[in-house]
Amino acid sequence: MSTRRLVLTRSAAVIGAASTGLLLPGIVRAQSGKVRVGFMLPYTGTFSQLGVAIENGFRMAINEQGGKLGGREIEYFKVDDESEPSKGIENASKLVQRDKVDVLVGTVHSGVQMGIQKVARDSGVLCLIPNAGVHAATRGLCAPNVFRTSFSNSQPTRALGKVMMDKGHKKTVWITWKYAAGDEAFEGFKESYTAAGGTIVKELGLPFPNVEFQALLTEIAALKPDAVACFFAGGGAAKFIRDYAAAGLKGKIPLYGSGFLTEGVLDAAGPAAEGIITTMHYSDSLDTPRNKQFRLDYVKAFRSQPDVYAVQGYDTGLLLIQGANAVKGDLSAKPALYKAMEGATIDSPRGKWTMSKAHNPVQDIYLRVVENKENKVIGIAAKALSDSGVGCRM
Ligand code: PHB
Repeated sequence: MSTRRLVLTRSAAVIGAASTGLLLPGIVRAQSGKVRVGFMLPYTGTFSQLGVAIENGFRMAINEQGGKLGGREIEYFKVDDESEPSKGIENASKLVQRDKVDVLVGTVHSGVQMGIQKVARDSGVLCLIPNAGVHAATRGLCAPNVFRTSFSNSQPTRALGKVMMDKGHKKTVWITWKYAAGDEAFEGFKESYTAAGGTIVKELGLPFPNVEFQALLTEIAALKPDAVACFFAGGGAAKFIRDYAAAGLKGKIPLYGSGFLTEGVLDAAGPAAEGIITTMHYSDSLDTPRNKQFRLDYVKAFRSQPDVYAVQGYDTGLLLIQGANAVKGDLSAKPALYKAMEGATIDSPRGKWTMSKAHNPVQDIYLRVVENKENKVIGIAAKALSDSGVGCRM
């Protein structure tokens, strides 16, 4: 087709559209275009599997609605954030400024989240956090346009201290990657463990995403605590579990952690993971029709087993669907959109949870043990646990 004919055809189409009124009211345009959804997730590095699982889960929730959001088609954009905090602002800006997304879904790493938080606060773009637990995002630096569907960093470990004391472990060593996620997980552990009468004999750490655990494991062997508690996740968690066993500590000093330690890594960690006890807001083995159906559907769609990250991604989709339906797809109707999301109850594979005023899930924390390469539920470590954030008005 010649350029001239193309121009003519286009202008004829515009005139046609205008005469039917389609181009006139801004609101009609806003609702009929595609919703632009940006994923800012780690697709490389130690958290790469987590990013993929989150995206899979999110797409699955949307696909269950025929691939639409509030009746509108979706266009997806993607940025690999590499779990690199120094590029957080730049990467979030790519999605917001360059790609002009309506919704930013991200991310996994707490340090990177701080960059997203700044961009979200400055731009007002709706931001859904599908993992990163950094406290500031739903406390001191909270924003009306930021919602978290995962956990706050101290939530899972707040349920761990009493469990360990009940098992008679009075002296514990804590070990983690030294950054916000590990430090804030420690905060929850310390509070619950010391309140139950336990003593933390030593805090050990190494920089993220370092996996040279040997010297620290030697130190643990020398300290001879009753137990070890930790925060690790992703590829680094699988290596920590294997190294812990290889250092001869498995079977001598029981290993505990927030459940990220054993999520998505059970194949990679192998027999070294058996028997590890953790606290987490999800478990593979939750015996509910909702969870069973979710797991079947996920395996069918993605040919891999879902984990807590897939569930968090899925729930991010569910939350956005609830919000979008409430405003019939007009995501520019912000007060109504936020109100619907704030009041949401999410019927999740993890069990029903509600959104707190601080935009963080109020949820049950399960006690789990690794058995035959599965995180088996053995109890509820905390019921309807909320974070201490009180709510956000800017
Ligand atoms: C975090 O950096 O907030 C983080 C990363 C991975 C997890 C949990 C928390 O599994």
